[in-house]
Amino acid sequence: ATEQGLLSIEAINIRDYTLDKHNKVDDTPYGGGAGMLMQAQPVYDAWKSVADRTGHKPRTVYLTPQGTTFTQPMAKELAKEEELVLLCGHYEGIDERVLEEIVTDYVSIGDYVLTGGELPAMVMVDAISRMVPGVLGNEVSGETESFEGNLLEYPQYSRPEEWMGKRVPQVLLSGNQKNIRAWRREEAVKRTKERRPDLYEKYEVLEKCKETLQKQKLLHIDMTELIARGQAELLYAQGGNICLRDQASGICFHTAESLEGGREALLAVRTFLMQESAGQQRAEDARTLDEKVSGKFSALHFLVLHQDYMLEAAEEILGVKPYISCCQVVYTRREKLPINGLYSPDGKKRDGQIEIKRLSIEHLPAVIQHYETVGDSDYVRERIEKGWMFGAFLEDVLTGFAGMHAEGGLGMLFVLPEYRGRKIGKALETYMINYSLELGHTPYGQIKEENQVSLRLQESLGLCLAQNKINWMAQARP
Ligand code: 6GU
Repeated sequence: ATEQGLLSIEAINIRDYTLDKHNKVDDTPYGGGAGMLMQAQPVYDAWKSVADRTGHKPRTVYLTPQGTTFTQPMAKELAKEEELVLLCGHYEGIDERVLEEIVTDYVSIGDYVLTGGELPAMVMVDAISRMVPGVLGNEVSGETESFEGNLLEYPQYSRPEEWMGKRVPQVLLSGNQKNIRAWRREEAVKRTKERRPDLYEKYEVLEKCKETLQKQKLLHIDMTELIARGQAELLYAQGGNICLRDQASGICFHTAESLEGGREALLAVRTFLMQESAGQQRAEDARTLDEKVSGKFSALHFLVLHQDYMLEAAEEILGVKPYISCCQVVYTRREKLPINGLYSPDGKKRDGQIEIKRLSIEHLPAVIQHYETVGDSDYVRERIEKGWMFGAFLEDVLTGFAGMHAEGGLGMLFVLPEYRGRKIGKALETYMINYSLELGHTPYGQIKEENQVSLRLQESLGLCLAQNKINWMAQARP
């Protein structure tokens, strides 16, 4: 990753910054007690030499057994930072005054004591680096990886078929992807129940929610897919009043069985988000002492409502405003759609036939030029970097594209005006649906109600249209 310029790592030796003539960086603690303490001056000057280069107060993590335990979501969040300073403690610790001055986060890697923060820092560098786009390559992006979704990885086997008298489970040799998926899931559940009862409990609660949501299958497809794909975080569940947050995008999804129940859910979500942002604010304040932002909940950018009657309550309670109204379409069958010459499968290019390929970053300008509907160029860039955008090429010329949104819906479908009427949209949508099925998803999309062209295309491909519209609400920005 460093060779490709995706990230860079620099080790700063605190001892290089001592002003003491014997290169001393530690001293005995005031008030007595065992061991030595790192002094404020060399630590501060070492940090300042880095901070001055960034031009602002960088996020600064102090590695200490007294910190919050490092987790996968933290790795993901820290991977978004442009710069990150990891400060390693040693001996009995560091003079409190310098910590107050520079540290934004206190992090531990587990409940045991090491002699210093160097190994924990390396652990964090590894975990954070692999969440930086491009580091893992396109194999399986960190987004779809297991462990997330509250389930452990299923057992895996490679050649030979028999080893020490133990055979590879028959189902894995069958080539039946549907059975293989079911077996793996069953094993993952069994294993989680046995080895990580804490995770299993969370899994079970979400499964219950899924059952409730499935009473209205088409309406709730976005929410059930979040759970099925292991990216849902439960914010609230009381009967049919449920609120989930997508761990990939931060978007919240809400459904209700009554106005009262739905309001209760929104109120609980507001409390939750405010507590969460208060915590984030404390970290933020440590960085930007001068430019304090008042305690609003910045965490909620989008809220997806599944009942029209919740609109006013959402505006009142969470301050969100109607953004777009969408129709949901669902591909309810498990069989792939026929390709019927729409595009050349498996890169076997035939003359005059379009080829569908994953887009890479050099296509970003072309995509942005044509598509500014949802989100901004940063969003499209992220979708491309994570391998979720595909293009239709005719003689290597981009004629259209489609992708999968962070929360899981198919979309961003666009055909360049000069190539319309050649079934390129149909080809892209067919490709996306089949790819989605291969991943074990139930393909679905959310289409703006005024986009009749897309709605007709979805219908012609056999997708089912949910009766009720869903309302995307957006945070009114100050
Ligand atoms: Cl971050 N530092 C030290 N010294 N010990 C630890 C730790 C950190 N995390 C777990 N044990």
